[in-house]
Amino acid sequence: MRCVALPFVFLAIFVLPVDAADWKNTESLFAAKCYECHNADKMKGDVDLKKFATDPNVAKEFEIWTKVKDSIENGDMPPRKAKQLTTEEKAGIIGWVNAELDYLAQSQSGDPGPVTMRRLTNVEYDHTIRDLTGQSYDLADEFQTDGGGGEGFTNTGDVLFMSPAAMDKYLNAARKLADNATIMPGTGIVFHPQRIGLRGKEQLKAQAQQGLYVWYQQKSAPHLPKDDEPMREAEYMLACWKHKHGQTPLDQLAKEMKLSVHFLNNWWNLVNSTEPPSRYLDLTRVAWRELPADEKTALERIKGIEVQLHSWNNPKHPGSGVQRQQQDSDGIRPYSMQTSVKDKGQIYLCIGDTGDGNKGDIALVTYIEVSIGKKKENYFHWRAAPKNQAKP
Ligand code: HEC
Repeated sequence: MRCVALPFVFLAIFVLPVDAADWKNTESLFAAKCYECHNADKMKGDVDLKKFATDPNVAKEFEIWTKVKDSIENGDMPPRKAKQLTTEEKAGIIGWVNAELDYLAQSQSGDPGPVTMRRLTNVEYDHTIRDLTGQSYDLADEFQTDGGGGEGFTNTGDVLFMSPAAMDKYLNAARKLADNATIMPGTGIVFHPQRIGLRGKEQLKAQAQQGLYVWYQQKSAPHLPKDDEPMREAEYMLACWKHKHGQTPLDQLAKEMKLSVHFLNNWWNLVNSTEPPSRYLDLTRVAWRELPADEKTALERIKGIEVQLHSWNNPKHPGSGVQRQQQDSDGIRPYSMQTSVKDKGQIYLCIGDTGDGNKGDIALVTYIEVSIGKKKENYFHWRAAPKNQAKP
């Protein structure tokens, strides 16, 4: 504790307040060499030094005391024709003034003085925006220049005030900044180097496309089966078959069989189409085109086609069928598939192009599992186990 306190004790010794005895000595020099020209009546250079005879009042009058020191140091005072100060007297006065000014400065140190409410300088503004947004926009280029006080600093609080014109410029800058921001779910507010919004042609086009897409989606929603509703593929295929063989108009069939007329038209186009070339579509449309004219057999075959269509998602044997459901409107989803490897020497997993004409199809195998009885194990762990390595 004592060690910590020591520096403060020294500090207190060095920095002393005005010492009355010191002042008495110094004052006698002023009285002898200065007062004759610097008193209340005769105020040469507008300076009255005699009024400080009892109290030098350095704290308040530091400016005059700085001048006193300077004028003596420079040799301006006393004037040449007046009684001169000896070298010791000069040193004495300068030493006293310096000690007093030092004490004053020390006693005020750490106090920045009154803090003015002020606007940011232009550089501060730009840097603040950069720190907040991660982008440099140099918006302050439009603002009025700083440092109008003529003191050479740009951050003098007294001249960094707001005017109505400056306020307008700040609001404009804020608008410009907002033009570069997007707010999206997941990302929050993001600032971009370029302007975003409804102004550019590209943005207008994108918005229009989005609008059309939403419009069509809303219009079609009532006619589309819900996610968990049956797609009634067999019924649509049968209706198409009836249209082909019985010449019944499609809309009449739709009414009779309570099908969507739009969907039925789609189905009719699908089963008769050969474009785009697709092995998956052919599993349905070629099979449909090969249906016999006999209704009973046709219906049986149609049910067979539907079973195949659904087979990929057969919950009992996922992926066991040959046909997957078209996922075009669904996005891509993972599907699990399983097969028995009992008594089989080798198993091949073959992945082919979907044959829909698109390039760059990707199949991603994320996990292979081996089930032995009720035990399930990661294939690679199972394979790495020494007892399994001998097996094919
Ligand atoms: C014979 C008269 C005379 C005597 C003695 C004299 N001065 Fe001066 N002093 C002047 C005059 C005249 C001026 C104004 C000079 C000017 O404005 O150029 C002046 C100006 C000053 C100023 C103002 C300087 C400024 O920059 O504004 C100070 C401070 C000053 N004197 C201090 C002193 C001190 C300290 C002494 C004693 C050591 C002293 N003077 C002795 C005549 C005197």
